[in-house]
Amino acid sequence: MCGIVGYIGEKNIESVLIVGLERLSYRGYDSSGIAVLSHNEMSWWKKKGKIKELKKTLKGQKVKGDLGIGHTRWATHGSPNEPNAHPHVTKLKKVAVVHNGIIENYQILKEALIKEGYIFQSETDTEVISNLIEKYLKNNTLEKAVESAVEKIKGTYAIAVISEHSPGKIVATKKGSPLIIGLGKEENYISSDINAFITQTKKTIYLEDNELAIVTKNSITVKEVNGPVLDKEIQTIKWDPISAEKQGYPHYMLKEIWEQPTIVRTILEKYIQDDQSIEFKHLKLNTEQLKKITRFIIQACGTSWHAGMVGKYLLEKHTRTLTEVDISSEFRYREMIVKGQEVVIALSQSGETADTLACLREAKSKFYHVISFVNAKNSSMDRESDGVIYSHAGQEVGVASTKNYVAQITTLVLFTLFLGQLRGTLSKETYTSLIQELSRIPDYIEQTLEKTNEIEAISKKYFKSRDFLFIGRAFNYATALEGALKLKEISYIHATGYAAGELKHGPIALIDEHMPVLCICPKNTDTYHKMISNIQEVKARGAKTIIIATEGDTQIAEFADDIIYIPSVSQELSPILTILPLQLLSYYIALQLGCDVDQPRNLAKSVTVE
Ligand code: M6R
Repeated sequence: MCGIVGYIGEKNIESVLIVGLERLSYRGYDSSGIAVLSHNEMSWWKKKGKIKELKKTLKGQKVKGDLGIGHTRWATHGSPNEPNAHPHVTKLKKVAVVHNGIIENYQILKEALIKEGYIFQSETDTEVISNLIEKYLKNNTLEKAVESAVEKIKGTYAIAVISEHSPGKIVATKKGSPLIIGLGKEENYISSDINAFITQTKKTIYLEDNELAIVTKNSITVKEVNGPVLDKEIQTIKWDPISAEKQGYPHYMLKEIWEQPTIVRTILEKYIQDDQSIEFKHLKLNTEQLKKITRFIIQACGTSWHAGMVGKYLLEKHTRTLTEVDISSEFRYREMIVKGQEVVIALSQSGETADTLACLREAKSKFYHVISFVNAKNSSMDRESDGVIYSHAGQEVGVASTKNYVAQITTLVLFTLFLGQLRGTLSKETYTSLIQELSRIPDYIEQTLEKTNEIEAISKKYFKSRDFLFIGRAFNYATALEGALKLKEISYIHATGYAAGELKHGPIALIDEHMPVLCICPKNTDTYHKMISNIQEVKARGAKTIIIATEGDTQIAEFADDIIYIPSVSQELSPILTILPLQLLSYYIALQLGCDVDQPRNLAKSVTVE
């Protein structure tokens, strides 16, 4: 959560910081601010709301500086308002700090500092950092003061610090949250995400936990906190900056929904060879090791967790490997039982989700092999996993994850086919037929998205409903959960996803004529007939049914108030298609309600606090 940016150099400081913040705004957007040093004098501006509010404040101001730091916030401690916005500048104006993460022992530290006479101006945990640095700065360099301060704090942090007492440098350090330095010519950058500066430089240094960087215009020194200077590798990023423009679409979410056919084409090209075999270059497991895997443990959050649920059905059916799926924040607090050759799979778009990352680290400490299905290259999960399978979805900006879900399921299908063939649990015929079917999926996605007008019309019928129920089974149980998540997160309508067979054990009591029920019921599935019975059960109780069905299935229309058809596919691939109408439906319902589709309230794209 939250985005950090820092710059030292000759460029216009305001522009560099604001552009950086705009690129990071997906990380949090309830308030933002910048602090700059000019001729050893600190100035700062903070504003509640999105970055455009900060820009309005800065208009007409003469923002001058040789260096500066900026922050876009997702509130953890204290509501989103100006005093709680970062940078936090100490009362004596000596120190400005921007911080990502959570300081767990801030209350104790705050009380002690207040007794010593330090003044607090916000409700945040961050202010203990700035005040501690001010305290230790009295007889020290800025870097020494930062080292002394971080020794006292417990929790996670990435911080960037500037001070009137130590002009000409930015000091940065981290534990648990990412921080990257971008190296330029007579200029240097700092950020929590490489996207903030990748258009300016591709030379980077990734800070590891408990490392501290002293960044000046012409030098970067990285050392261990209270330890020796380190010889850090400078990495050159090989990929090009990804376009984060809307390209004519009114919202990123819509653009990203429409990118899905191209993304699936890219994934198939990347992983399927000319001879139809599948190759993953970064698994770091040899054939013998892959054959010996006894259990997969998939852990992820939100939409990635839903993709993981599809993965469970795929892996168990075709690789005959015991597979469990858990929400990372729950898995983290289970006693992990290491028994046999287990592999932990982390699924994540951002590669930075704190809960998933914490599980990954815990799993590694227990000597599990960890494979991450990750979209953001060079993210913490990419760098820390033993093996990686990239989603190749491109930068996802809309807070509601769409294209990465489809990309994750596609890569999970490929991984299943790859492993099933290797282990001899998947027949050649099934392998070939699924590969052939996969090649048609991009066209099928296009055909489904072309129903956009139909779906928009349905959204107009239902957008005033206060509750929605989504039901599905087996491969499409996850679709029900994901459809409900999409709707609630961008339209603020209460929506629940349920396994259709579980309805009669309680939730069916909710059904009446005011409850639209989204029924995910493609044909060619083992559970089709059971789904039909479940749909009849809700219909009999007066529900309005919107059914996602397979083209040509006219019988099912009898139970539908509204119906959206998708092309006919096998059950393994059906979740790639069934989610598409639900993404569009959520989008259009949110539009009818006038909601901020790309940046819904209370959310952030990358959840980097536990
Ligand atoms: O970056 P990750 O895939 O690890 O993110 C996990 C969730 O935070 C994310 O999927 C979230 O649920 C989205 N807002 C869903 O649209």
